[in-house]
Amino acid sequence: MLAVAVLAAGKGTRMKSALPKVLQPLAGATLVERVLASCKGLQPDRQILIVGHQAERVEQSLAGAGGSCPLEFVLQQPQNGTGHAVQQLLEPLAGFEGELLVLNGDVPLLREQTIAELLERHRSSGAAVTLLTARLADPTGYGRVFADGDGAVSAIVEHRDCSEAQRCNTLINAGIYCFNWTQLAAVLPQLRTDNDQGELYLTDTVAMLSPAMHVEVADADEINGINDRLQLAQCEAVIQERLRRHWMEEGVTFVDPGSCTLSDGTRFGRDVVVEPQCHFRGEAVIGDGCRIGPGSLIDNSRLGDGVEVLYSVVRDAVVAGDCAIGPFAQLRPGAELAAGCRVGNFVEIKQSRIGAGSKVNHLSYIGDAELGENVNVGAGTITANYDGVNKHRTVIGAGSKTGANSVLVAPIQLGANVTVGAGSTLTKDVPAGALALGRAKQLVKENWQMP
Ligand code: UD1
Ligand code: CA
Repeated sequence: MLAVAVLAAGKGTRMKSALPKVLQPLAGATLVERVLASCKGLQPDRQILIVGHQAERVEQSLAGAGGSCPLEFVLQQPQNGTGHAVQQLLEPLAGFEGELLVLNGDVPLLREQTIAELLERHRSSGAAVTLLTARLADPTGYGRVFADGDGAVSAIVEHRDCSEAQRCNTLINAGIYCFNWTQLAAVLPQLRTDNDQGELYLTDTVAMLSPAMHVEVADADEINGINDRLQLAQCEAVIQERLRRHWMEEGVTFVDPGSCTLSDGTRFGRDVVVEPQCHFRGEAVIGDGCRIGPGSLIDNSRLGDGVEVLYSVVRDAVVAGDCAIGPFAQLRPGAELAAGCRVGNFVEIKQSRIGAGSKVNHLSYIGDAELGENVNVGAGTITANYDGVNKHRTVIGAGSKTGANSVLVAPIQLGANVTVGAGSTLTKDVPAGALALGRAKQLVKENWQMP
């Protein structure tokens, strides 16, 4: 049997944030979501989150998470250290037999493979505890692990409790442990607060358990703990580097990789070119042969093959193949473009479906609208969708053309192949094939002189 416990009760004082530390986002997912994801494949029998500081908020953020093994929340109040946190498991895990994997909620870069290896080593060696360590050039802040050449650990001493000599030890505790639960449960009540912080340290159990072993990680980046914004930024950089490397290996060209950011949910087809300063968030799915950027944000949107986006924002939108967006366009939630559309500069489209081959090239707002195929929206055309209380729909039939500076006051329907004269303000429906004009007649007085 395997139980996983994630320590997520701490406040994260050093973050200086209103948000509990484990809810800080990293490439679009919170720290605690990342930690949970890193052990999903191990198929634990129990998954327990130890919460305390803003417990409700942490619980709410994880509603629906956990998958096949539901999350159990255990409250630690007050938060008197990592040992005190794990003491809270004595009751919920009473009678449990097997391994307890303890993960710090602020160590988000761990790979599942690394945890699996730790578990494997623990099981095959029969140790009472096996913990993950790393050698760091700068071990400042981490607990130091004292071990012999065979990997047997005698003690962990926190940075602040170390002597000058002990601080020279560069082998650090990653905060990831695999315990034999029965043996840990027997020593947990013996923890004492005789340390610099006056807390109960989980790390002190290691000297009480025998044998205690450690496994050193190959890639020290994986065990980066996040205590402050500097470390948050460093971890973000590591994740971004991993994501970009992955997608370059999958056939994406990044002209200036370091200037672009991705999310876990970003997916690229083949031969996509990403120009400098592009950002992909949420589930951003980009088809084959797209050219994105420079200077674009694609958030939670799907782009078909061969789409070009230049200096534009695309958010919660769906864009079919061969469309061209921008420069300086904004596709807002619910924008759906069929194949081969063209959306040009200073155009905003929201909650609207645009038929194949249609063009909205200059200075327009299209909201709550349905455009057929091959519609040509003239420069400055506006769908006036809001009467101050409700939103209304505009429908424009296939092949229609609106003149420059048209205002279509919704609700309104234009049939197919309608022509709207420039400068018209239309408030009534127009049947197919008609010319609609809604503007003052031009008056010309010849040879007119000021009186
Ligand atoms: C801890 C380890 C240290 C290790 C480092 C790795 C201890 C005593 N020290 O130090 O050896 O090198 O992690 O990153 O364990 N938490 C609770 N309840 C509490 C206190 C903390 O749930 O009462 C949670 C925090 O939310 C956090 C995790 O435990 O997710 C670690 O706590 P933190 O205070 O960051 O420990 P470190 O000082 O980093
Ligand atoms: Ca920490």
